[in-house]
Amino acid sequence: MKNILVTGGAGFIGSAFVRYAVEKYPHYHIIVYDKLTYAGNLENLLPVSQRANYHFVQGDIADREAVRGVIEQYGVDTIVNFAAETHVDRSILDPDAFIMSNVVGVHILLEAANHYKMERFLHVSTDEVYGDIEGSYFSKENDPFAPNSPYAASKAGGDLMVRAYHVTHGLNTVITRGSNTFGPYQYPEKLLPLFITEAIDDKPLPVYGDGMQVRDWLYVDDHAMGVDAALHNGVAGEAYNIAGENLQHNIDVIRRLLSLLGKPESLIKFVPDREGHDRRYAMDCAKLRAIGWQRQYSFEDALTRTVEWYKNNESWWRKIKTGEYLEYYKRQYAARLAAAGVSL
Ligand code: NAD
Ligand code: DAU
Repeated sequence: MKNILVTGGAGFIGSAFVRYAVEKYPHYHIIVYDKLTYAGNLENLLPVSQRANYHFVQGDIADREAVRGVIEQYGVDTIVNFAAETHVDRSILDPDAFIMSNVVGVHILLEAANHYKMERFLHVSTDEVYGDIEGSYFSKENDPFAPNSPYAASKAGGDLMVRAYHVTHGLNTVITRGSNTFGPYQYPEKLLPLFITEAIDDKPLPVYGDGMQVRDWLYVDDHAMGVDAALHNGVAGEAYNIAGENLQHNIDVIRRLLSLLGKPESLIKFVPDREGHDRRYAMDCAKLRAIGWQRQYSFEDALTRTVEWYKNNESWWRKIKTGEYLEYYKRQYAARLAAAGVSL
């Protein structure tokens, strides 16, 4: 492993991995390949942009010629694929891009990885492929898939293609499946960055349904280190869950962040639920621990760091919350908030 193509490296988790890997592995070349969709942001990579072992190329993983071009240009021997459309609500409104990037794009990357006989292909996936997890069960890596949103189904499709390239072509693949990730540089459409930035401006917070859904919150640096552990120590053909081991009801997380911000709970507005909304995600991550990963951050510490980061980096998110973002916000929330008696 010496020339690693990190696809989607300008996004939230990908950029955390790149910032980490550029420092930890000065002898590797880290080549970020990213389409720079609405969610990609080169500011996320500014902390490493002057490093000699960091390179950036703009491109689409679903563009076969461009993928082959970047692999040949840099002599890529390893791919770590973070590139994806990632927001469940957008997959309900506009699913096409999810199929292109999360299924077709993964297929194009696998074809290239097989063609150039890559040393390793790590695919970053999600706990959402297991679906809604009832009772007190924790999903294990070989459990059947039951994805419920177009996003989750597209990610499951990608995972199955990765499996097929290992079985059929003997490609050295590893899959990671992370839980709900939060931290600095997260695009403010996901629950935590949306609610932190809206609450700073005393705006209403649209809580779907009764707010009693359960998510397993994982700090972004712990996620990046989990990917690193699987990349270096994972067994070919295997998948590894990366869990926060911190199951919380949405409403409790929201109350905690309001308290950290010193904002009133009257900002909370219960709105009509997300269609097909999974009630609970929960994963067992003993398999990843067994190959050397250990969570570094407690939830409380990580949430405090995250809230502080958004308070101290308003210029990063205020620039995003303009133009297309506002169009999306209206489309996603105007009717929901109106049903709760709030007009935008
Ligand atoms: P993100 O939306 O912040 O970033 C995605 C990045 O991929 C962006 O930089 C975007 O420009 C790029 N991209 C999208 N389509 C592309 C394409 N066709 N070609 C090249 N680049 C493209 O996403 P994230 O939250 O950082 O998620 C990264 C990965 O982790 C995804 O695969 C996601 O499914 C997975 N994941 C996310 C979470 C989470 O809670 N955010 C949890 C588990 C797994
Ligand atoms: O579980 C891993 C997944 O976590 C990743 O694969 C996805 O890429 C990532 O987007 C995330 O999916 P979720 O749908 O769980 O995350 P989101 O931040 O959209 O929502 C978290 C919970 O909060 C969920 O139960 C829906 C709820 N929610 C979300 C938003 C945006 C609200 O109640 N109101 C909101 O406005």
